[in-house]
Formats: sequence, C-alpha cells, structure tokens
Amino acid sequence: MLGLKLLTDPRWANIAESNLEEILTDHAWCEQKAATNAINLIADNCEHIDLVSELTIIALEEMQHFQQVVDIIKKRGYTLGRGRKDDYVGQLMKFCKRDGSRNNSFIERLLFAAMIEARSCERFRVLSQNIKDKELAKFYHDLMVSEAGHYTTFLNFARKYTIDVDVDKRWKEWLEFEGELIMSFGNKEAIHG
Ligand SMILES: [Fe+2]
Ligand SMILES: [Fe+2]
Repeated sequence: MLGLKLLTDPRWANIAESNLEEILTDHAWCEQKAATNAINLIADNCEHIDLVSELTIIALEEMQHFQQVVDIIKKRGYTLGRGRKDDYVGQLMKFCKRDGSRNNSFIERLLFAAMIEARSCERFRVLSQNIKDKELAKFYHDLMVSEAGHYTTFLNFARKYTIDVDVDKRWKEWLEFEGELIMSFGNKEAIHG
C-alpha cells in the first residue's frame, strides 16, 4: 500500500479502540501538525505559486479534520488533552538530509510530508477495517481517502521541483528507512504509536 514496506498488524486497532479518548486526542494534534507543516512549507517556498495554492487547500483540509476530531471528542464527552510527543515523526525528522542545497532541503521536506501522509493513510485504513465503532470506522475510511490525496500531492511536487535530487531513488530510501522504523511501533494508542 503506497509503497510501504511493512503493513500495520491489525491488532494495533484493538489497542487504539481500547482507549478512544487517547487516540482521538493524539489524532487531533496530528491533524494540527499536518496543517502547520503545510503552512510552513508555503511560507518558505512562496515562489512556487501552484504549491502555495495546493498546500493552502491541504492546510484547510487538515484543520477541517482537526475540527471533525474535536467535534467527535466533544460529542462523546471526552476531554481534548494536550498534544503528545510523536517519536515516530521525530525519527523521520532525523532522517531528513540537512547538508545539501536549499532545493535539496525543500525536496526532503516534501518527502518527509509524503511519508507521514502515507503511514497515516495506512493507519486510518487499519482503523476503518478493524474497529467495531461504526461511526468511527466510516470517519476513518473518509480520512484515509483524503490523506492518500495529500501523499500524492507532496510526492508530485518533489518530482516537479527537484533540481538534482533523484526523487524516485531517494523515495525508495525513505520507504526502506520507514519500514525498519515502524517495526518498533504498533503497540500504543497513538496514530503513529
Ligand atoms: Fe488530515
Ligand atoms: Fe494529510
């Protein structure tokens, strides 16, 4: 799925469902971080006007997802807790190359974003197919479709704007790294946990 090297064990969905307040809180902040990331990419790369337009749409969609998750939290009488530390994303950040040109860093940030979209999309699929809660299963199915579109957008912009990065080769390295990384996750009620 989306080139991912390792698919999530469906039992992770049971862990997630055992603490909905926790997974929903974690999820809400994932959406906020995705929106913030899109906004930062816009601010740092405003010379690419098509990217500005597309990422504005993504930022709005991510905040809409945030709003939807918050609405579910409210409706169910849960509490929106504070943002959680995301070790998975922290490790991906460390994998980003920082020693190259401005264009190299830009492409790396697009691949970083595509990677998170791909795994989030896969996790939403696992939730939609395995949780017993009908309303949330439908919700996660819809989000899965949306995040798959974001994944494609980020990867396509990397291919479009690269100067000297071989994007397909570098993307393979990202997928290899992520495949190894995700092995140590899958046991916590967090979207990337
Ligand atoms: Fe989202
Ligand atoms: Fe997204």
